[in-house]
Amino acid sequence: MQTANQPGTTHEAIAPTGGKTEMDRRDFVKELGAMGLAKWAGIGAMEQAAATPLKQLAANKGLLFGSCLALKYFAQSAAYQRLFLTQCDIATPEVHMKWNSLSSQPGVYDFGNADKFVAFCAANHIKVRGHTLVWHDALPAWVSGQLTAENGQAMMVDHIRKVAGHFAGKLYSWDVVNEVLDPGSHRADGLRDSPWLQNVGVDYIEQAFRATAAADPNALLVWNENYLELSNGFGIAKRRAMLNLLDGLLARGVPVHGIGLEAHLRGDQASVLGDASYEAFLGELERRGMKIFITELDVQDATLPADTGARDQAVAEIYSRFLTASLRQQAVKGVVTWGLSDAFSWIAGYRPRKDALPVRPLPFDANCQPKAAYYAIAATLQSAPHRG
Ligand code: XIL
Repeated sequence: MQTANQPGTTHEAIAPTGGKTEMDRRDFVKELGAMGLAKWAGIGAMEQAAATPLKQLAANKGLLFGSCLALKYFAQSAAYQRLFLTQCDIATPEVHMKWNSLSSQPGVYDFGNADKFVAFCAANHIKVRGHTLVWHDALPAWVSGQLTAENGQAMMVDHIRKVAGHFAGKLYSWDVVNEVLDPGSHRADGLRDSPWLQNVGVDYIEQAFRATAAADPNALLVWNENYLELSNGFGIAKRRAMLNLLDGLLARGVPVHGIGLEAHLRGDQASVLGDASYEAFLGELERRGMKIFITELDVQDATLPADTGARDQAVAEIYSRFLTASLRQQAVKGVVTWGLSDAFSWIAGYRPRKDALPVRPLPFDANCQPKAAYYAIAATLQSAPHRG
Protein backbone atom coordinates (compact mmCIF):
# COMPACT_ATOMS: atom_id res chain seq x y z
CA MET A 1 0.00 0.00 0.00
CA GLN A 2 1.28 3.45 -0.80
CA THR A 3 1.44 6.38 1.53
CA ALA A 4 -1.81 8.29 1.78
CA ASN A 5 -2.07 12.05 1.38
CA GLN A 6 0.84 12.34 -1.02
CA PRO A 7 -0.05 14.47 -4.01
CA GLY A 8 -0.09 12.59 -7.27
CA THR A 9 0.32 9.12 -5.81
CA THR A 10 -2.29 6.43 -5.82
CA HIS A 11 -3.55 5.49 -2.42
CA GLU A 12 -6.24 3.41 -0.88
CA ALA A 13 -9.11 5.82 -0.79
CA ILE A 14 -12.39 5.44 0.98
CA ALA A 15 -14.65 7.29 -1.42
CA PRO A 16 -17.62 8.84 0.39
CA THR A 17 -19.93 6.21 -1.02
CA GLY A 18 -17.28 3.50 -1.14
CA GLY A 19 -16.34 1.34 -4.08
CA LYS A 20 -14.55 3.84 -6.37
CA THR A 21 -11.55 2.37 -8.11
CA GLU A 22 -8.40 4.32 -8.95
CA MET A 23 -9.51 4.24 -12.60
CA ASP A 24 -12.90 5.69 -11.69
CA ARG A 25 -11.18 8.50 -9.84
CA ARG A 26 -8.85 9.29 -12.73
CA ASP A 27 -11.83 9.39 -15.09
CA PHE A 28 -13.67 11.61 -12.69
CA VAL A 29 -10.74 13.97 -12.37
CA LYS A 30 -10.42 14.10 -16.18
CA GLU A 31 -14.11 14.78 -16.48
CA LEU A 32 -13.87 17.56 -13.92
CA GLY A 33 -10.97 19.02 -15.86
CA ALA A 34 -13.05 19.00 -19.03
CA MET A 35 -15.80 20.83 -17.14
CA GLY A 36 -13.31 23.36 -15.83
CA LEU A 37 -13.81 22.16 -12.27
CA ALA A 38 -10.35 20.84 -11.48
CA LYS A 39 -9.61 24.28 -10.06
CA TRP A 40 -11.41 23.29 -6.85
CA ALA A 41 -8.26 21.44 -5.90
CA GLY A 42 -5.08 20.06 -7.39
CA ILE A 43 -5.49 16.45 -8.39
CA GLY A 44 -3.56 15.14 -5.39
CA ALA A 45 -5.45 17.34 -2.98
CA MET A 46 -8.69 16.42 -4.64
CA GLU A 47 -8.01 12.69 -4.30
CA GLN A 48 -7.32 13.31 -0.67
CA ALA A 49 -10.57 15.24 -0.36
CA ALA A 50 -12.48 12.46 -2.11
CA ALA A 51 -10.92 10.02 0.32
CA THR A 52 -11.79 12.09 3.34
CA PRO A 53 -15.32 12.59 4.71
CA LEU A 54 -16.38 16.20 5.23
CA LYS A 55 -16.80 15.56 8.98
CA GLN A 56 -13.15 14.58 9.12
CA LEU A 57 -11.94 17.59 7.12
CA ALA A 58 -14.02 19.72 9.50
CA ALA A 59 -12.77 17.96 12.64
CA ASN A 60 -9.18 18.55 11.50
CA LYS A 61 -9.96 22.25 11.98
CA GLY A 62 -11.97 21.93 15.19
CA LEU A 63 -15.26 22.28 13.29
CA LEU A 64 -18.44 20.21 13.13
CA PHE A 65 -19.98 19.13 9.82
CA GLY A 66 -23.43 17.69 9.26
CA SER A 67 -26.79 17.84 7.56
CA CYS A 68 -30.49 17.84 8.24
CA LEU A 69 -32.22 14.51 7.97
CA ALA A 70 -35.73 13.10 7.75
CA LEU A 71 -35.79 9.42 8.75
CA LYS A 72 -37.93 8.45 5.74
CA TYR A 73 -34.94 9.04 3.43
CA PHE A 74 -33.13 6.08 4.98
CA ALA A 75 -36.12 3.84 4.27
CA GLN A 76 -35.85 4.90 0.61
CA SER A 77 -32.09 4.60 0.20
CA ALA A 78 -29.52 2.52 2.04
CA ALA A 79 -26.81 4.37 0.08
CA TYR A 80 -28.05 7.62 1.59
CA GLN A 81 -27.82 6.19 5.08
CA ARG A 82 -24.20 5.14 4.40
CA LEU A 83 -23.42 8.58 2.99
CA PHE A 84 -24.95 10.26 6.01
CA LEU A 85 -22.97 8.18 8.46
CA THR A 86 -19.76 8.76 6.51
CA GLN A 87 -20.11 12.53 6.25
CA CYS A 88 -21.83 13.82 9.39
CA ASP A 89 -20.99 14.27 13.04
CA ILE A 90 -23.92 16.63 13.70
CA ALA A 91 -27.52 16.42 12.45
CA THR A 92 -30.72 18.46 12.52
CA PRO A 93 -34.14 16.79 12.34
CA GLU A 94 -35.66 18.27 9.17
CA VAL A 95 -39.21 17.89 10.51
CA HIS A 96 -39.40 15.56 13.54
CA MET A 97 -39.12 18.19 16.32
CA LYS A 98 -41.34 20.84 14.75
CA TRP A 99 -44.53 21.52 16.69
CA ASN A 100 -46.84 20.16 13.97
CA SER A 101 -44.77 16.96 13.78
CA LEU A 102 -45.02 16.42 17.54
CA SER A 103 -48.63 17.30 18.21
CA SER A 104 -51.82 17.10 16.14
CA GLN A 105 -54.24 17.45 19.06
CA PRO A 106 -54.37 19.98 21.90
CA GLY A 107 -51.72 19.16 24.48
CA VAL A 108 -51.07 15.63 23.14
CA TYR A 109 -47.46 14.97 22.09
CA ASP A 110 -46.06 11.99 20.21
CA PHE A 111 -42.27 11.88 20.45
CA GLY A 112 -41.95 8.61 18.51
CA ASN A 113 -40.09 9.83 15.40
CA ALA A 114 -38.08 12.46 17.25
CA ASP A 115 -36.98 9.82 19.77
CA LYS A 116 -35.97 7.50 16.91
CA PHE A 117 -33.94 10.32 15.40
CA VAL A 118 -32.16 11.03 18.69
CA ALA A 119 -31.51 7.32 19.32
CA PHE A 120 -30.07 6.83 15.81
CA CYS A 121 -27.75 9.80 16.30
CA ALA A 122 -26.69 8.68 19.78
CA ALA A 123 -25.89 5.17 18.51
CA ASN A 124 -23.69 6.71 15.81
CA HIS A 125 -22.04 9.44 17.90
CA ILE A 126 -23.76 12.20 15.96
CA LYS A 127 -24.60 15.41 17.83
CA VAL A 128 -28.20 16.64 17.51
CA ARG A 129 -29.31 20.21 16.85
CA GLY A 130 -32.83 20.48 18.26
CA HIS A 131 -35.01 22.33 15.73
CA THR A 132 -37.12 24.28 16.57
CA LEU A 133 -39.16 25.46 19.57
CA VAL A 134 -40.67 28.84 18.67
CA TRP A 135 -41.45 29.54 15.01
CA HIS A 136 -44.31 31.24 13.18
CA ASP A 137 -44.37 28.28 10.75
CA ALA A 138 -45.12 24.56 11.23
CA LEU A 139 -47.75 25.24 13.89
CA PRO A 140 -50.47 22.62 14.28
CA ALA A 141 -53.96 23.81 13.37
CA TRP A 142 -55.03 23.57 17.03
CA VAL A 143 -52.36 26.05 18.09
CA SER A 144 -53.23 28.57 15.39
CA GLY A 145 -56.90 28.10 16.25
CA GLN A 146 -56.59 28.52 20.02
CA LEU A 147 -53.83 31.10 20.38
CA THR A 148 -54.93 34.37 22.05
CA ALA A 149 -53.26 37.20 23.92
CA GLU A 150 -54.65 35.64 27.11
CA ASN A 151 -53.14 32.17 26.65
CA GLY A 152 -50.18 32.92 24.33
CA GLN A 153 -47.47 32.98 26.98
CA ALA A 154 -48.74 29.84 28.72
CA MET A 155 -48.98 27.95 25.42
CA MET A 156 -45.47 28.88 24.35
CA VAL A 157 -43.85 28.15 27.71
CA ASP A 158 -45.79 24.91 28.17
CA HIS A 159 -44.63 23.70 24.74
CA ILE A 160 -41.01 24.54 25.56
CA ARG A 161 -41.20 22.79 28.94
CA LYS A 162 -42.69 19.66 27.39
CA VAL A 163 -40.36 19.41 24.40
CA ALA A 164 -37.06 20.73 25.76
CA GLY A 165 -37.79 18.85 29.00
CA HIS A 166 -38.40 15.61 27.09
CA PHE A 167 -34.99 15.76 25.40
CA ALA A 168 -33.10 17.33 28.30
CA GLY A 169 -29.46 16.28 28.38
CA LYS A 170 -29.61 14.58 24.97
CA LEU A 171 -29.20 17.48 22.55
CA TYR A 172 -26.15 19.49 21.56
CA SER A 173 -28.19 22.63 20.96
CA TRP A 174 -31.70 24.01 20.56
CA ASP A 175 -32.86 26.43 17.91
CA VAL A 176 -34.95 28.21 20.54
CA VAL A 177 -36.40 30.79 18.17
CA ASN A 178 -36.50 30.59 14.39
CA GLU A 179 -36.79 33.36 11.77
CA VAL A 180 -38.02 36.03 14.17
CA LEU A 181 -36.79 39.00 12.12
CA ASP A 182 -38.54 40.37 9.06
CA PRO A 183 -37.89 43.83 7.62
CA GLY A 184 -41.12 43.28 5.66
CA SER A 185 -43.09 43.67 8.91
CA HIS A 186 -41.95 47.35 8.94
CA ARG A 187 -41.35 47.55 12.68
CA ALA A 188 -38.60 49.76 14.10
CA ASP A 189 -37.17 46.80 16.06
CA GLY A 190 -37.07 44.59 12.95
CA LEU A 191 -39.15 41.83 14.55
CA ARG A 192 -41.48 39.70 12.46
CA ASP A 193 -45.14 40.38 13.11
CA SER A 194 -45.62 36.74 14.12
CA PRO A 195 -48.35 35.01 16.13
CA TRP A 196 -45.89 34.93 19.08
CA LEU A 197 -45.15 38.62 18.89
CA GLN A 198 -48.88 39.33 18.67
CA ASN A 199 -49.98 37.00 21.45
CA VAL A 200 -47.07 36.97 23.88
CA GLY A 201 -45.53 40.39 23.28
CA VAL A 202 -42.10 41.75 22.36
CA ASP A 203 -40.43 39.86 25.19
CA TYR A 204 -41.40 36.44 23.82
CA ILE A 205 -37.80 35.80 22.67
CA GLU A 206 -36.48 36.47 26.15
CA GLN A 207 -39.14 34.25 27.70
CA ALA A 208 -38.42 31.47 25.21
CA PHE A 209 -34.68 31.43 25.98
CA ARG A 210 -35.24 31.51 29.75
CA ALA A 211 -37.80 28.69 29.60
CA THR A 212 -35.51 26.53 27.44
CA ALA A 213 -32.54 27.09 29.75
CA ALA A 214 -34.67 26.01 32.70
CA ALA A 215 -35.90 22.88 30.88
CA ASP A 216 -32.52 21.81 29.48
CA PRO A 217 -29.63 23.57 31.23
CA ASN A 218 -27.00 21.75 29.14
CA ALA A 219 -28.08 22.58 25.60
CA LEU A 220 -26.43 25.39 23.69
CA LEU A 221 -29.23 27.90 23.06
CA VAL A 222 -29.33 29.27 19.53
CA TRP A 223 -31.25 32.00 17.73
CA ASN A 224 -31.66 30.63 14.19
CA GLU A 225 -32.28 33.20 11.46
CA ASN A 226 -32.50 33.47 7.68
CA TYR A 227 -30.99 35.93 5.16
CA LEU A 228 -28.42 37.46 7.54
CA GLU A 229 -25.78 36.25 5.10
CA LEU A 230 -27.04 38.56 2.33
CA SER A 231 -25.11 41.82 1.99
CA ASN A 232 -28.08 43.65 0.47
CA GLY A 233 -30.65 46.04 1.97
CA PHE A 234 -32.75 43.20 3.37
CA GLY A 235 -29.85 41.31 4.94
CA ILE A 236 -28.21 44.44 6.30
CA ALA A 237 -31.49 45.50 7.96
CA LYS A 238 -31.73 42.07 9.57
CA ARG A 239 -28.13 42.23 10.83
CA ARG A 240 -28.73 45.64 12.40
CA ALA A 241 -31.95 44.46 14.08
CA MET A 242 -30.28 41.31 15.42
CA LEU A 243 -27.34 43.17 16.96
CA ASN A 244 -29.67 45.71 18.64
CA LEU A 245 -31.98 43.05 20.03
CA LEU A 246 -29.05 40.86 21.09
CA ASP A 247 -27.52 43.75 23.03
CA GLY A 248 -30.76 44.12 24.99
CA LEU A 249 -31.11 40.39 25.63
CA LEU A 250 -27.52 39.98 26.79
CA ALA A 251 -27.72 43.09 28.99
CA ARG A 252 -30.70 41.49 30.73
CA GLY A 253 -28.76 38.25 31.23
CA VAL A 254 -30.85 36.20 28.80
CA PRO A 255 -29.02 32.93 28.01
CA VAL A 256 -28.43 33.29 24.25
CA HIS A 257 -25.34 31.26 23.38
CA GLY A 258 -25.28 31.08 19.63
CA ILE A 259 -26.54 32.34 16.30
CA GLY A 260 -27.60 30.07 13.45
CA LEU A 261 -27.24 31.40 9.92
CA GLU A 262 -29.58 29.35 7.75
CA ALA A 263 -27.83 30.19 4.47
CA HIS A 264 -30.41 28.98 1.98
CA LEU A 265 -28.41 30.57 -0.82
CA ARG A 266 -29.18 31.19 -4.48
CA GLY A 267 -26.98 30.52 -7.47
CA ASP A 268 -27.27 34.13 -8.65
CA GLN A 269 -26.23 35.73 -5.35
CA ALA A 270 -22.45 35.76 -5.70
CA SER A 271 -22.38 39.57 -5.62
CA VAL A 272 -24.08 39.79 -2.21
CA LEU A 273 -22.26 36.96 -0.45
CA GLY A 274 -19.09 36.74 1.63
CA ASP A 275 -18.00 40.39 1.45
CA ALA A 276 -16.26 42.46 4.15
CA SER A 277 -19.56 43.62 5.68
CA TYR A 278 -20.58 39.99 6.22
CA GLU A 279 -17.32 39.17 7.95
CA ALA A 280 -17.62 42.33 10.04
CA PHE A 281 -21.09 41.17 11.12
CA LEU A 282 -19.72 37.79 12.21
CA GLY A 283 -17.05 39.70 14.13
CA GLU A 284 -19.78 41.71 15.90
CA LEU A 285 -21.49 38.47 16.92
CA GLU A 286 -18.19 37.09 18.19
CA ARG A 287 -17.59 40.27 20.19
CA ARG A 288 -20.91 39.54 21.93
CA GLY A 289 -19.70 36.05 22.83
CA MET A 290 -21.79 34.20 20.27
CA LYS A 291 -20.88 30.84 18.79
CA ILE A 292 -21.95 30.86 15.13
CA PHE A 293 -23.28 27.93 13.13
CA ILE A 294 -24.15 27.67 9.45
CA THR A 295 -27.36 25.71 9.93
CA GLU A 296 -29.28 25.05 6.69
CA LEU A 297 -26.83 25.53 3.84
CA ASP A 298 -27.93 24.77 0.28
CA VAL A 299 -27.80 26.57 -3.09
CA GLN A 300 -30.92 27.03 -5.22
CA ASP A 301 -30.17 26.47 -8.91
CA ALA A 302 -33.46 27.65 -10.42
CA THR A 303 -31.87 30.61 -12.23
CA LEU A 304 -28.74 28.74 -13.36
CA PRO A 305 -28.07 27.21 -16.80
CA ALA A 306 -29.61 23.86 -17.71
CA ASP A 307 -26.18 22.41 -18.57
CA THR A 308 -25.15 20.20 -15.68
CA GLY A 309 -21.45 21.09 -15.72
CA ALA A 310 -22.03 24.84 -15.85
CA ARG A 311 -24.75 24.60 -13.22
CA ASP A 312 -22.67 22.52 -10.83
CA GLN A 313 -19.77 24.92 -11.20
CA ALA A 314 -21.93 27.96 -10.42
CA VAL A 315 -23.38 26.21 -7.37
CA ALA A 316 -19.87 25.19 -6.24
CA GLU A 317 -18.68 28.79 -6.60
CA ILE A 318 -21.42 30.00 -4.28
CA TYR A 319 -20.52 27.37 -1.68
CA SER A 320 -16.87 28.30 -1.97
CA ARG A 321 -17.38 32.04 -1.75
CA PHE A 322 -19.75 31.84 1.21
CA LEU A 323 -17.82 29.25 3.21
CA THR A 324 -14.42 30.82 2.61
CA ALA A 325 -15.61 34.05 4.22
CA SER A 326 -17.56 32.27 6.97
CA LEU A 327 -14.81 29.89 8.04
CA ARG A 328 -12.22 32.67 8.26
CA GLN A 329 -14.10 33.76 11.39
CA GLN A 330 -13.11 31.83 14.51
CA ALA A 331 -16.60 32.15 16.02
CA VAL A 332 -18.00 29.86 13.30
CA LYS A 333 -18.01 26.42 14.91
CA GLY A 334 -19.87 24.23 12.47
CA VAL A 335 -21.47 23.81 9.06
CA VAL A 336 -24.77 21.97 8.54
CA THR A 337 -26.19 21.56 5.05
CA TRP A 338 -29.93 21.16 4.43
CA GLY A 339 -29.48 17.70 2.98
CA LEU A 340 -26.55 15.87 1.40
CA SER A 341 -27.82 14.33 -1.83
CA ASP A 342 -29.87 16.02 -4.56
CA ALA A 343 -32.24 13.05 -4.27
CA PHE A 344 -33.53 14.40 -0.95
CA SER A 345 -33.79 18.19 -0.99
CA TRP A 346 -36.66 20.46 -0.04
CA ILE A 347 -35.55 22.73 -2.94
CA ALA A 348 -37.24 20.32 -5.40
CA GLY A 349 -40.58 21.49 -4.00
CA TYR A 350 -39.68 24.95 -2.70
CA ARG A 351 -37.76 26.33 -5.72
CA PRO A 352 -38.19 23.97 -8.67
CA ARG A 353 -36.67 24.87 -12.04
CA LYS A 354 -38.94 26.27 -14.76
CA ASP A 355 -37.48 23.76 -17.24
CA ALA A 356 -38.49 20.96 -14.84
CA LEU A 357 -34.93 19.54 -14.75
CA PRO A 358 -34.08 17.94 -11.40
CA VAL A 359 -32.53 20.46 -8.99
CA ARG A 360 -28.86 20.08 -7.94
CA PRO A 361 -28.48 22.18 -4.75
CA LEU A 362 -26.40 19.84 -2.56
CA PRO A 363 -22.84 18.45 -2.40
CA PHE A 364 -23.71 14.93 -3.62
CA ASP A 365 -25.74 14.01 -6.69
CA ALA A 366 -28.90 11.90 -6.71
CA ASN A 367 -26.71 8.76 -6.70
CA CYS A 368 -24.81 9.99 -3.63
CA GLN A 369 -21.70 10.70 -5.72
CA PRO A 370 -19.64 13.83 -4.96
CA LYS A 371 -20.19 16.86 -7.20
CA ALA A 372 -18.24 20.07 -7.70
CA ALA A 373 -20.04 21.48 -4.64
CA TYR A 374 -18.56 18.68 -2.54
CA TYR A 375 -15.03 19.53 -3.69
CA ALA A 376 -15.66 23.22 -3.07
CA ILE A 377 -16.79 22.51 0.50
CA ALA A 378 -13.87 20.14 1.05
CA ALA A 379 -11.40 22.76 -0.23
CA THR A 380 -12.81 25.51 2.01
CA LEU A 381 -12.57 23.21 5.04
CA GLN A 382 -9.00 22.34 4.11
CA SER A 383 -7.98 25.98 3.86
CA ALA A 384 -9.94 27.12 6.96
CA PRO A 385 -7.89 28.30 9.90
CA HIS A 386 -7.88 25.94 12.90
CA ARG A 387 -10.30 26.91 15.68
CA GLY A 388 -8.62 27.94 18.90
C1 XIL B 1 -38.28 22.86 5.66
C2 XIL B 1 -38.14 21.38 5.39
O1 XIL B 1 -36.97 21.14 4.67
C3 XIL B 1 -39.32 20.89 4.58
O2 XIL B 1 -39.25 19.48 4.44
C4 XIL B 1 -40.62 21.30 5.26
O3 XIL B 1 -41.68 20.95 4.47
C5 XIL B 1 -40.65 22.79 5.50
O4 XIL B 1 -39.52 23.17 6.25
N1 XIL B 1 -36.19 27.19 7.40
C6 XIL B 1 -36.16 26.27 8.42
C7 XIL B 1 -36.40 24.84 8.12
O5 XIL B 1 -35.84 26.63 9.56
O6 XIL B 1 -37.04 24.16 9.18
C8 XIL B 1 -37.19 24.66 6.84
O7 XIL B 1 -37.27 23.26 6.56
C9 XIL B 1 -36.57 25.44 5.71
C10 XIL B 1 -36.54 26.91 6.03
